Amino acid sequence: MSSLRKARPRHPSPLLQAPRPPPRRGRGETVVATASHSGKQIVDTVCISCHGSGVLGAPRIDSRAQWQPRVDQGFDVLLHHTVEGFKSMPPRGGNPSLSDAELKRAVAYMLDQAGIEAPKDCE
Ligand code: HEC
Repeated sequence: MSSLRKARPRHPSPLLQAPRPPPRRGRGETVVATASHSGKQIVDTVCISCHGSGVLGAPRIDSRAQWQPRVDQGFDVLLHHTVEGFKSMPPRGGNPSLSDAELKRAVAYMLDQAGIEAPKDCE
């Protein structure tokens, strides 16, 4: 039995060496697939109009000093006032399509921005 194996070419065809396309960057393009919005999304689109600059005396999103006395009433009270409205604060921030869970996340996000930790179950 003679072995007549052909010598393998040393260099594979250049076609097999086509450069790989650079990896795609997916960052920042993630689309949230659920109908529910994150606290940040809600705050950035709804609550910011008053809480961004303190319109009508709204506690400013970045002010721990303005939020702390309100947080001291208890997170449940804050949530209740967000859902039902409180003085110049309109019910659900004026957006009736927001669910209780969404409002809860929004309040937690605003507190977070003010440097105050919200209860753990808010995400
Ligand atoms: C039309 C303006 C306006 C919008 C929009 C708005 N707020 Fe307010 N909010 C206020 C004002 C004014 C107050 C302060 C009321 C007071 O104490 O006199 C307030 C107070 C609050 C408080 C504190 C309540 C308390 O018990 O002291 C929370 C919590 C709050 N807002 C959450 C939200 C959230 C969450 C959103 C977005 C979904 C939102 N707000 C949108 C005007 C607004």
